Amino acid sequence: MTHQEIRQKYLDYFKEAHHVEVPPASLVPDNDPSVLFTVAGMQQFKDYYQHPQNAPAPRIVTIQPCIRTIDIDEVGDDTHNTVFEMYGHFSFGYTGQDTPDGPYFKKQALTMAWDFLTNVLAIDKNRIRATYFGGDEKRPTDTESKELLQSLDGLSRIEGYGNENFWGPVGDEGPCGPNVEFYIDDVEVWNSVFNEYYKDRDGNYTKAEYRGVDMGGGLERLAAAIQGKPTVYDSDLLSPYITLVRENSNNYNERHGRIVTDHVKAALFLISDGVRPGNKTREYILRRLIRRAVRAGQTIGFTKYGQLMESFASMYGQYYETIKNNYQEAITVFDAEQTKFLKTLDSGTTQLERIITASDNGEISAEQAFKLFDTFGFPIELTSELAAEKNWTVDLTGFQELFNKHKDMSRAGMEKIFQGGLADHNPQTVAHHTAHHLLLASLRHILGGHVVQRGSNVTSERLRIDVSHPEKITEEQLKMAEDLVNQKIAEDLPVISETMDRDKALASGALAEFGTKYPKEVTVYSIIEQDGSVFSRELCGGPHVMSTGELGRFEILKEEGSSAGVRRIRARVVPRTSSIS
Ligand code: SER
Repeated sequence: MTHQEIRQKYLDYFKEAHHVEVPPASLVPDNDPSVLFTVAGMQQFKDYYQHPQNAPAPRIVTIQPCIRTIDIDEVGDDTHNTVFEMYGHFSFGYTGQDTPDGPYFKKQALTMAWDFLTNVLAIDKNRIRATYFGGDEKRPTDTESKELLQSLDGLSRIEGYGNENFWGPVGDEGPCGPNVEFYIDDVEVWNSVFNEYYKDRDGNYTKAEYRGVDMGGGLERLAAAIQGKPTVYDSDLLSPYITLVRENSNNYNERHGRIVTDHVKAALFLISDGVRPGNKTREYILRRLIRRAVRAGQTIGFTKYGQLMESFASMYGQYYETIKNNYQEAITVFDAEQTKFLKTLDSGTTQLERIITASDNGEISAEQAFKLFDTFGFPIELTSELAAEKNWTVDLTGFQELFNKHKDMSRAGMEKIFQGGLADHNPQTVAHHTAHHLLLASLRHILGGHVVQRGSNVTSERLRIDVSHPEKITEEQLKMAEDLVNQKIAEDLPVISETMDRDKALASGALAEFGTKYPKEVTVYSIIEQDGSVFSRELCGGPHVMSTGELGRFEILKEEGSSAGVRRIRARVVPRTSSIS
């Protein structure tokens, strides 16, 4: 059975069972700053577990590309990929009632899983085993799932586990629950999470008002299992590309071939979703993937990255619009980064040779190795390899210490970004940011307190805000909001920031974006009315203008639905010509 057939059978089966197919989300989540990338199919639906009324349907099916950077160092083994496609089905809003087309929970989910695996895909029952949540000190055993598994015809291997069988939340807060995993020949291919808890920021679990299902599995693994292949790289989703790499290498080995294949594919997906190589967070991960691919390529004598990407694109372009539209750009971006890296490698090699000829102490110090790594992007293995050729050693322990210190620092840097800071501090971006606060407050004023932020994006060109509101915002309401923002700009109100305890800030009525994880201590920005009352107060990393009078004229550009119950507004501040330098 080909991967095309598996895809189709999965979608057809769940559509037949009244699921609505929803297109995949971007790999860069735009409403969840607590994670770098989309790591699971459920992520775009996270909010629906608590607010099922916002879901476009109670039953959804998707195939969602995911990136798991935690697995980068595992890539090259038999089962891990950086990017993979997750097939998933979801149910929202279950309150105890099974209906043929409404929300469902454990019974229907497990019955469908077994039917699909053993009847539709016709996998031999003896190859399958299942695991369930056996409970721990905080959470009880999932006896319901255990009994349901015991009732499945022909499933003989069932085991209970602890924390491994409890999934979520994504980020530090959110829906989560016990899960059931199905394995084929000991490779996990199916994970049904039963979201029945909500975990709060302080780590407490409470029973959720609504229960739901979040099932996900890796298409590459399932294809390998069905096709009787020993590794994900042998499935028809990856083997043609592995072959392309092998045939174009002059010193091929499997591990490096896999790294090239996996990383080039991940780079194609990331660049197509708008990520560019750089030195921060997502950008850095892309850079690391490209560099790692190029290094692995050097080891096996492979250079045809453009051809490999194009070949991936001709297949994935059939399923993903972003790839169809952007793969040529991806090839260009990859190529530019490769050129840059090769130059870096050259200067690093020169540098290393200089160190070696300048003294005869026989060891590259930790500082020297770290400088090569940090400034020249020189991987430590390469330093060791080249040093060894000259009979030199490297202070690897010292290097590791410096490296760990650096890792902690960059992690701290990432956390700072997630506190809501802007990507750039261009004056026009800052102006849009303050206008964003004014707009949210104005919308709440005009439409009501149910309006909360669901997502945002601020650039120097425009601002975009997603807010909860059940229906289209009328022309008249938009005009009122626009006028109110302009009035607050004309009143030249002060924008003040204070650092506060998070819970106190929330208790004081400061607005926070739904689903966002905030640290214990937060910055709160307030816009104060002429009479001293608060017009707007939000948890926010800033920066902002000092007073609203610095903004030019505000205008709303567009209003549209973004998902059920969520409206998206684009607006901008027309810069004052006199203040542009
Ligand atoms: N969220 C779960 C996972 O990622 C199931 O979809 O494994």
